[in-house]
Amino acid sequence: MSGAHVSMGVLRPAAPASSPAFSSVSRTPWSLLDLYRRLDRDPLGTFADLARHGGDLVEFHAGPVRVLLLSGPSHIADVLVAQQRQFVKPRGPLVAARVLGAGLLTTEGAIWRRSRRLIQPAFHRQVVAGMDGAIVAAALHHIRAWHPGEMRDVADDMSALSFAIAAENLFGADVEAVHPDLLKNLARAMRHAHRRAKAIVRWPGWLPTPDNRSFMLAVRQLDAAVTDIIAQRAPGGAPRHDVLAALMAAVDADGWPLTPQELRDHTATLLLAGHETTATTLSWLWHLLGTHPEVRARLEQELDQVLDGARPTAADVDPRRLPYLNAVIAEVLRLYPPVWVMARRAIAPVALGAHTYPAGTWTIMSPWVVHRDERLYPEAGAFRPERWLDLSHGRQPPLAYFPFGAGPRMCIGKPFALTEIALVTAVIAQRFRCEPAAPGPVAVEPLITLRPQHGIRVTISAR
Ligand code: HEM
Repeated sequence: MSGAHVSMGVLRPAAPASSPAFSSVSRTPWSLLDLYRRLDRDPLGTFADLARHGGDLVEFHAGPVRVLLLSGPSHIADVLVAQQRQFVKPRGPLVAARVLGAGLLTTEGAIWRRSRRLIQPAFHRQVVAGMDGAIVAAALHHIRAWHPGEMRDVADDMSALSFAIAAENLFGADVEAVHPDLLKNLARAMRHAHRRAKAIVRWPGWLPTPDNRSFMLAVRQLDAAVTDIIAQRAPGGAPRHDVLAALMAAVDADGWPLTPQELRDHTATLLLAGHETTATTLSWLWHLLGTHPEVRARLEQELDQVLDGARPTAADVDPRRLPYLNAVIAEVLRLYPPVWVMARRAIAPVALGAHTYPAGTWTIMSPWVVHRDERLYPEAGAFRPERWLDLSHGRQPPLAYFPFGAGPRMCIGKPFALTEIALVTAVIAQRFRCEPAAPGPVAVEPLITLRPQHGIRVTISAR
């Protein structure tokens, strides 16, 4: 597959007309309205269809904006790595800016670079490895409330646990102090932000609609939680090397510390980015293990053999020691990448494939689409962790797999996330099984992250 254009919803060739994939697209033209309707109803399926029929580079117009859906690893590498200087992240919806402020996710240029340099050391692999005891203790504390035979929404569990782990390890905060409704309200706020971003008619944010009210409540509770977290760091206490310490010690070229607003924005961003993605991954992991008993059995066997009942450490969860555990996690992130879509806007003309596109062009890249491409992953829809143990797999193009993005804006929390996911999985799988409480598929809800729409209902059993 090489490329196609959808102009005003009609697909036409961008590259050699001999492309067999292209010819099938030109027979199924979508009107612009149809395309919008499809994107609104089922963005994952629509992007996947566009890529399947249109190829590695599909062009369409959203009003005056030229949009390229890139599904070929080399195009994605061009945008995220090789030509990254020609692109910026498009400004997100205003509601996201209200929640995240000017944190790492939402800034560009010198401000972003300064913040990234400041925060990066707190996420160094060795610093993260030192958090292993606290992560394991938090997981053990959380599952004290689990009883064999009971039914639970394990997505709620993973959300609460990931939030507690992020708050404690990144900010040294005691989460018992955080408002108990905060997580529910944040989930509602994200749904609201997503609906608003897609809506054709938007009510002003200050109108007291039920949606706006619950959004503002979530923002107020998040602000209160962040204020609490910062206030809990007593001056003169034992020195810490976490993210909050780095932020509080930071000074600019003139010796000024971060303003309270900057501190708030970084804390809110890292707290949100740091728990939601990890929680989503762990939720899908329990769903996939529950529906694939043969995978679960092999994982349990590896954990029993290597750990022999001991608490896992950061050294244990190294892929050389627990290869199957790491393969399971890689496969979960392939099938359910929490950040299912990324976007960039060109700020200068860019050459992609056979064409040059003007400044202002948007590119969209979806790990969901690329990770399920049969050309890259045979039996792409199947949950087969074994594929990551097969060495020939390493011959794939690098950007065939990018759950954490790539290039300078790659996820800063990747080592923390992978360590946390591995430790939490090991601790729980040593003790419990999560069997699906109801048969049938679990609906995927592509909001800002890829959430299970109605949670993951499981029945707990002891091993
Ligand atoms: C499984 C878990 C995670 C996944 C799949 C994930 C995925 C991603 C992806 C794809 C990006 C790049 C977005 C883009 O290029 O547009 C990103 C950026 C980011 N992530 Fe993560 N993330 C995860 C966990 C975390 C954690 C635990 C933290 C913090 C504690 C975090 C903080 C961030 C931040 C601050 C950025 C922006 C980085 C920058 O622009 O410099 N993430 N993440």
